Amino acid sequence: MSLETLPTKVRLIDVGPRDGLQNEKQPVPAAVKIELVHRLQAAGLKEIEVTSYVSPRWVPQMADNHEVMAGVRRQPGVRYSVLTPNLKGFEAALLDRPDEIVVFGAASEAFSQKNINCSIAESIDRFAPVVDAALKAGIAVRGAMSCTVGCPYEGDIAPERVGMLARLMKDIGVQRVDVADTIGVGTPLKVQRAIEATLAHYDIDHISGHFHDTYGQALSNTLAALQLGVWNFQSSVAGLGGCPYAKGATGNVATEDVVYLLHGLGLDTGIDLDALVDAGAFISQHLGRPTGSRVARALLAKRAAADPA
Ligand code: HMG
Ligand code: MG
Repeated sequence: MSLETLPTKVRLIDVGPRDGLQNEKQPVPAAVKIELVHRLQAAGLKEIEVTSYVSPRWVPQMADNHEVMAGVRRQPGVRYSVLTPNLKGFEAALLDRPDEIVVFGAASEAFSQKNINCSIAESIDRFAPVVDAALKAGIAVRGAMSCTVGCPYEGDIAPERVGMLARLMKDIGVQRVDVADTIGVGTPLKVQRAIEATLAHYDIDHISGHFHDTYGQALSNTLAALQLGVWNFQSSVAGLGGCPYAKGATGNVATEDVVYLLHGLGLDTGIDLDALVDAGAFISQHLGRPTGSRVARALLAKRAAADPA
């Protein structure tokens, strides 16, 4: 593999507090979510997806959005983003002054219906005033594109449909987009095809990779995206997560694993891996389960061996 084709800088967006926790059945106290955000920023994360302003009937875990946003001690230079599916969500989010809002659509009609209860075309009609209002308020706008390689209801998704969604997002003023493998079925070439379809509408600086790890392909997919020049990635501390409307899909690729990969490639992330492992251990302990990060497991085992007490 030639290192010359890799980007020289990389930015990680930890989506653990939002994507990671939204699927948890037991309510996670706001104080724990806030502590997680604090630990992530202390570890050097410069972008954190904190919460979402969605219907509490659809996603009860995110009902404490105001409390969480109000409790975060913001650090200068850190971008705090939140999900807003419609104007109601945006108006609620505006009270908490996020740095960026995320509208979330899908390249699959069936997933769009299941996740946000409307067609792709209707979703764009709903997002358009949200995007306008956010930009007028000086808030950045990202668009998540779900099911860019596969859909739990429709199966394989053709790259043309990803291109179509990217064009629609671009037309309404979305500034940058996430190419998401919602159910973690992608493999490197398929993910590259989805990114290439997006590149017809967004330049490489405005595309991020968002890979769930259901089939264990997310790190390979990250490398495949890096080889195309993608340098923004979403990942979730401890590999937390999943979408309630993508049954069976596991969490995002673990941030610790991506950081280990990137550092191994000589790419600077600005992230302190040890502090990140601690953040992952904190939330895993709260959830009462082992971390989903292979790197964190290895490093925690090494620490335990070095200090058996
Ligand atoms: P709907 O039922 O069609 O909405 O849901 P509606 O406009 O008909 O309103 C119905 C009720 O919901 C009303 O309340 C509204 O006020 C309320 P009622 O009068 O019946 O008491 N409502 C809201 N409440 C709070 N916040 C709002 C809001 N909007 C309406 N923003 C809706 C449409 C989009 C709201 C619903 O489908 C929803 O909340 N979906 C969210 C699903 C979700 O959060 N999924 C997970 C995030 S996406 C994801 O994880 C994928 C991603 O990680 C990328 C990837 O991996 O693919 C981003
Ligand atoms: Mg996701």
